[in-house]
Amino acid sequence: MDRTLGRVLVIVPTYNERENLPVIAARLRAAVPEAHLLVADDNSPDGTGAVADELAAADDHVHVLHRPAKQGLGAAYLAGFAWGLAEGFDVLVEMDADGSHSPEQLPALLDALAAGADLVIGSRWVRGGKVVNWPASREFLSRGANTYARIVLGVPVRDTTAGFRAYRASTLEKIGLSDIQSEGYCFQVDLTLRTIRNGLRVTEVPITFTDRTVGASKMSRAIVAEALWRVTLWGIAGLPHRLRRTR
Ligand code: GDD
Ligand code: MN
Repeated sequence: MDRTLGRVLVIVPTYNERENLPVIAARLRAAVPEAHLLVADDNSPDGTGAVADELAAADDHVHVLHRPAKQGLGAAYLAGFAWGLAEGFDVLVEMDADGSHSPEQLPALLDALAAGADLVIGSRWVRGGKVVNWPASREFLSRGANTYARIVLGVPVRDTTAGFRAYRASTLEKIGLSDIQSEGYCFQVDLTLRTIRNGLRVTEVPITFTDRTVGASKMSRAIVAEALWRVTLWGIAGLPHRLRRTR
């Protein structure tokens, strides 16, 4: 792995991931030992926060952000980014706690960042990307959401909702995080769009996404609805720019 990238922070948002967290933390620490881990826990009722505290007490590369209540994936990541930027990290990674994203594939994301990307997306929907054990309904939802976003927003990215990514700190500083309103999983689309609209370089690297075997997904109707209306509004807001470009 390229060392010119600087210090790497992997942010893992958690809500009721007590059993998954120690497993993913150990895998990450083994796969990329120089990276730091920040757990952003929303006061999980199952006690994930206390589990995170135990991990942090035993390992100086593990940190915990305790948040008062469930406020959505977007808010958890914004708090994690703010912490990481203030601590001077050069690369900020997003990764799920449930094992769907393989820490063993993180070096491939970091290599693509070192090769010149401003944002690297671990993608299920590029050649070589895979999804394992996902119910057909989830695959349909993800493919549909991505097709809709690609057309409505006019972005060339195949997996705009992906949750396994690496950002340069400079990317987050440039795109501006202070006015982000996305709460649910459309946060991922929001940041992809901001990165592209700021003229920065996005690279997709194929990953294998494996559905969780422990705990439950936090995906909900409200998350889908928010994504649908926000993406539609972003598409409309971007239309004048797209029309100017094609003329
Ligand atoms: N702190 C916090 N607060 N964490 C949350 C919240 C929240 O409100 N909601 C979800 N999480 C955490 C989960 O605990 C998990 O670590 C991660 O975010 C992903 O949540 P899942 O519920 O496992 O998501 P999924 O498997 O249904 O969805 C995956 O695919 C989506 C669509 O492609 C994820 O990779 C998403 O990031 C992705 O957008
Ligand atoms: Mn999951």
